[in-house]
This record gives sequence, structure tokens and C-alpha cells, in this order.
Amino acid sequence: MDSMMFVDILSRWVHVGASVVLVGGSVFLRFVLMPAAASLQESEHTALRERIMGRWKKIVMGGILLLLISGFYNYLKVTAPLHKGDGLYHGVMGTKILLAFAAFFLASVLTGRSPKFESFRANSSRWLGVLILLTAVIIALGGFLKVARPPQSAEPSASALLDVQRPLN
Ligand code: HEM
Repeated sequence: MDSMMFVDILSRWVHVGASVVLVGGSVFLRFVLMPAAASLQESEHTALRERIMGRWKKIVMGGILLLLISGFYNYLKVTAPLHKGDGLYHGVMGTKILLAFAAFFLASVLTGRSPKFESFRANSSRWLGVLILLTAVIIALGGFLKVARPPQSAEPSASALLDVQRPLN
């Protein structure tokens, strides 16, 4: 395994791992914590919300950063060169990136404090639901690209060429 392959695997691991943490946390918030906390008194509810959002926000911001770095690395350095001329691949990837930006916006305003976006937080269960739906579509598009658009013009890496020449044992 050459060092570039190691970085490619690391980047994929970071990308899928960050998405598991962010989507899993959002599902937990929307379908477990929010219904469970709904019966609390207003003051208790607000205090709990503040404490949870203060911590969750840091994970959300870190996760968005990791998804952006790993996503653009995976696309620009790894998958785009293997899909030259595949318009459907790049179109679906462009759609995935746009939906991801919409998801990042929703995740940021729902965990943020800006008064401009208070209306999103006032309807947080609806917008968290929209965010979860968006991420479900984004993951489906990622799966489609992986399974239905395999690389066309894979140029063998140096290590792959060496493997061909290497005896089996
Ligand atoms: C909410 C945001 C995002 C989520 C939840 C997400 C999730 C995922 C998942 C789960 C995969 C693996 C799919 C599979 O192998 O079955 C994937 C693949 C990928 N994602 Fe993302 N992603 C997000 C944002 C982004 C962004 C902003 C980029 C930037 C370009 C990006 C680029 C990629 C690339 C290049 C792949 C590999 C596609 C392939 O195998 O051909 N993703 N994504």
C-alpha cells in the first residue's frame, strides 16, 4: 500500500465517519431527545436545550469541516480523475454538494444563536426532520455514485503495477 492510498482510505473513513456521527446525532435529537424533553417545564426545557446545543454545536462544526475537507479531497483528487467525461457522475456529485450545503446551513442555524434565524429554531422539530431527509438523499446519491458509476479510466497506480510484477508468494 503506497502512502497516497493510505491518505485516500483515511479520507474516505473520515467522510463516512463524520456523516455517521452527524446524521446519527440528528436522528437521536429529533426522535428520542426532543419527544422525551417535551413534557419538561419551560424553564427546565430552555436550560437543557442551551446545555445540549452548546456541546452539540462543537461536534456539528467539526463534522462539517471534516466533511468538506474529506469530500473535496475525495472528489477532486480521487474520484473526478477516474470519471473524466462522465457527465452523469459530475451532475449527481454537483447535486450532492448543493444538498450538502443546504444541510450545513440548516445544521448551523439550528445549533446557532443568530436572531435572524430564530424562526428555524422556533420550528426546530420540522427543520431537523428536513435536515435528516436531506442527509438521507445525500447518502443515497453517494451510494449511487459508488455502485452505479464505477471508475471508467482507472490509471493503475505505481503500487498496482508493482503488484502485477510481484510473484504471488
Ligand atoms: C451532509 C453532508 C454529506 C454527507 C452526509 C455525505 C455522506 C457520504 C457518504 C455516506 C458517502 C459514501 C457513499 C458510499 O460509498 O456508499 C459519500 C461519498 C462521497 N462524498 Fe459525501 N457526504 C456529504 C457531503 C459531501 C461534500 C460537501 C462533498 C464535497 C465534494 C462530498 C463528496 C463525496 C465524494 C467524492 C464521495 C465518493 C463518491 C464515490 O464513491 O464515487 N460529500 N458521502
